[in-house]
Amino acid sequence: MYESKKFTLPSLGGISDESVKQHIGLYEGYVKNFNAISTKLVEYAKEGTEKNALALGELVRRKSFEFDGMRLHELYFEQFENGAKALDENSALGKAFATEYHGYFVEYMKAIGSMRGPGWAILYWDPVGKQFQTGFASEQHQGHFVTLPVLLALDVWEHAFLLDYGAAGKGKYMDAFFKNLNWGVIEKRSDEAQK
Ligand SMILES: [Fe+2]
Repeated sequence: MYESKKFTLPSLGGISDESVKQHIGLYEGYVKNFNAISTKLVEYAKEGTEKNALALGELVRRKSFEFDGMRLHELYFEQFENGAKALDENSALGKAFATEYHGYFVEYMKAIGSMRGPGWAILYWDPVGKQFQTGFASEQHQGHFVTLPVLLALDVWEHAFLLDYGAAGKGKYMDAFFKNLNWGVIEKRSDEAQK
């Protein structure tokens, strides 16, 4: 069984406490539902895999939806802990960004986040190819690059911004996301992924 993590978050600029509170409630729902699916799978399997084949199949399919929702939100909220911190241009990540993204990384991530549909704009590190990868995970479980650790996770589901900015407010929300981002967390993830 997984337990919901607790996050020590400062008040964020441009993302209200109420929005964060509701968002954390949604995160806790993913944890709860993943645990429920895990329990039900055992129950159904014990009762008879043939008899419960349809239910088992549906639950197995939903596992990664709930798991990825749980884990991505943990990565997301941790990024705000200890307050906003600018990217250190002299850090390994800062230097890599200057070479690979020529200073337009944030704009690039916002462009990915602007894609239509619920999902996540994600920065990964590929330890095999020794390079960054960026992508859009539809919902939260589709379109990932297998085995690559997540360095930065930008939630662009409507629930992340609807309360503060309305349905058309994704751009303003993404601006606020990057203003509040603790780049120290991203640098640490990057350092650990590149060990
Ligand atoms: Fe979310």
